[in-house]
Amino acid sequence: MAEEQSGWSYISDVVHQDTPDNRDKAYSKMAPVYDLKMSDVGSVGNQNLIKVGYEFVNNSESSLMLDIAAGTGWTAEHFREAGYVGQMDAIEMNAAMLDIAIAKGLYRKTQCQEVSDQSPLPVADETYDIVTATGAFLDNHLPQGCIPYILKALKLGGLFLFNCRKTEYNEVYHNELMRMLEKMTSEKRMILVKKEETDLFQMNCNEPGKPTKAIVYVFRKL
Ligand SMILES: C[S@@+](CC[C@H](N)C(=O)[O-])C[C@H]1O[C@@H](n2cnc3c(N)ncnc32)[C@H](O)[C@@H]1O
Repeated sequence: MAEEQSGWSYISDVVHQDTPDNRDKAYSKMAPVYDLKMSDVGSVGNQNLIKVGYEFVNNSESSLMLDIAAGTGWTAEHFREAGYVGQMDAIEMNAAMLDIAIAKGLYRKTQCQEVSDQSPLPVADETYDIVTATGAFLDNHLPQGCIPYILKALKLGGLFLFNCRKTEYNEVYHNELMRMLEKMTSEKRMILVKKEETDLFQMNCNEPGKPTKAIVYVFRKL
């Protein structure tokens, strides 16, 4: 009987790909078992994003959130669990992941599309009270240059809440991301509200027992 593929091995397959196309194929393969395998490896990225940033969320029935790189809808599930009563939309480029999110019935509207640094998001300007992205600011996923487009989609005063892996593998990407965040803040397009290092996984892929870390960032659009 074939040995069952572990959560770490699936994660390694989606993270360490040489092309966006191969990464997308790896997500399609992981999609049916994504929730199970992420739980197996102690994924706490969403819980910690909520812990750090939820106090700043405009929580009302008229509040609109956009979940970018939404995957199977984990961030939306955690927002609901935290008591968020507003509406949620999603953009996710992998159809297999998004189909699972859609089946959960959490989103008002979903779009299967890539978020890029070359074109605006497929939404009207200044629509959202919150834009969030969990587990997607890493190499070969969301490009750092998408941040100006995310700001366009936010209302004035809107919240941009996301995390970024703080790992050796993601260091070059994270440094470039920080340069983009500094540019946006120095141009007074957004202001840092809170930043906190948290666990992403309760173990480390390479060194079992040591948590994998992420930085949670909370910005407000100016
Ligand atoms: C690690 S998963 C995280 C999913 C979800 N946010 C969560 O917390 O479980 C990363 C997701 O980002 C999606 N993704 C990667 N790059 C993307 C891009 N440029 N535009 C849209 N989605 C993207 C992948 O298809 C995948 O579903």
